[in-house]
Amino acid sequence: MDRVCVIGAGSSGIAACQVLSARGIEYDCYETGSEIGGNWRYLNDNGMSSAYRSLHINTSRQMMEFKSFPMPAHLPVYPSHFQIAEYFDDFVKHHGFRDRIRFRTEVTGVSVASGGYSVTTRDRDTGEEVSGTYRSAIVANGHHWSPRMPEPAFPGSFDGEELHAHFYKTPERFADKKVLVLGIGNSACDIAVESSRVSARTFLAMRRGAHIMPKYLFGMRPITSRPRRSPGSRRPGCRRCPSGRCCGWRAASSPTTACPSLRTASSPPTRRCPTTC
Ligand SMILES: Cc1cc2nc3c(=O)[nH]c(=O)nc-3n(C[C@H](O)[C@H](O)[C@H](O)COP(=O)(O)OP(=O)(O)OC[C@H]3O[C@@H](n4cnc5c(N)ncnc54)[C@H](O)[C@@H]3O)c2cc1C
Ligand SMILES: NC(=O)c1ccc[n+]([C@@H]2O[C@H](COP(=O)([O-])OP(=O)(O)OC[C@H]3O[C@@H](n4cnc5c(N)ncnc54)[C@H](OP(=O)(O)O)[C@@H]3O)[C@@H](O)[C@H]2O)c1
Repeated sequence: MDRVCVIGAGSSGIAACQVLSARGIEYDCYETGSEIGGNWRYLNDNGMSSAYRSLHINTSRQMMEFKSFPMPAHLPVYPSHFQIAEYFDDFVKHHGFRDRIRFRTEVTGVSVASGGYSVTTRDRDTGEEVSGTYRSAIVANGHHWSPRMPEPAFPGSFDGEELHAHFYKTPERFADKKVLVLGIGNSACDIAVESSRVSARTFLAMRRGAHIMPKYLFGMRPITSRPRRSPGSRRPGCRRCPSGRCCGWRAASSPTTACPSLRTASSPPTRRCPTTC
């Protein structure tokens, strides 16, 4: 009853396992697939991964890596799903808790029991169902595996092939066809680019606009990277801001220009000045 149950061994589940291991809390982790990684395991035999063949992360490695186990230096700033899955494997190996994960075991039910939760699991190979009681259950089962089609369905009829992005893997199926990609999320943009290389024509339709951000600022700095300097540290050419109301530094070259991140009555102070520091 003192044990904790972790449901899923994707990136969220293995992060939970690592913290529980580090704190000496007993737990069991159940994973319906044969491997860890969830969405990042291409063609995962759990049948739930939305990863397509060309997928790379769009949050830079600095944003996505575990602090307790940074990504190896040889990985690019935006690794592929193959590299991310391997990194997750190495993370689990490094922290030594792979044997705490029960693979090919699906959690089929969680209900409140006296002092905790009753968790029912099903072995995918034998079909055997087992119930156990845990003091807590950490639900890390993901959510991107559940495709959501427009509701209500679009009026009229369509004779062509319809495909939700969740099931997209490679672009060959679009060869020489006229393709309409609906939406302006990351999936739509990636799929439209890949389709445009093989299709007769590709159209991208959206019901509202979106900002498309490059992966690198000025072709150099990953847009989602963490700030490189700690608050209060100084960029060469900056000097102490006399107001002391922003991060403390402003460009020496324009000492009289108001720092745009200064505190105003309607906006809270920013901790760092994005323009000069
Ligand atoms: C195409 C795509 C690209 C993405 N790109 C990025 C990105 O670049 N950066 C980023 O930060 N995020 C990205 N995401 C978000 C992505 O969801 C997260 O990166 C991450 O995969 C979430 O991890 P998770 O562990 O919560 O879920 P998942 O990765 O989905 O893992 C859930 C795990 O739970 C298991 N499971 C589910 N139900 C049960 C059950 N009943 N019993 C036992 N096990 C179960 C599954 O088998 C799976 O292994 C992307 C998502 C998609 C769809
Ligand atoms: N690493 C990568 O490169 C990568 C690649 C793919 C996905 N992802 C991640 O995966 C997650 C899901 O991304 P996603 O692009 O699949 O989904 P999403 O971000 O939810 O985008 C869905 C798009 O479809 C549109 N849409 C939904 N229902 C519609 C309807 N009925 N009619 C018209 N348009 C409709 C939405 O428009 P509205 O906004 O108007 O609803 C939106 O433009 C995100 O976190 C994303 O960052 C990452």
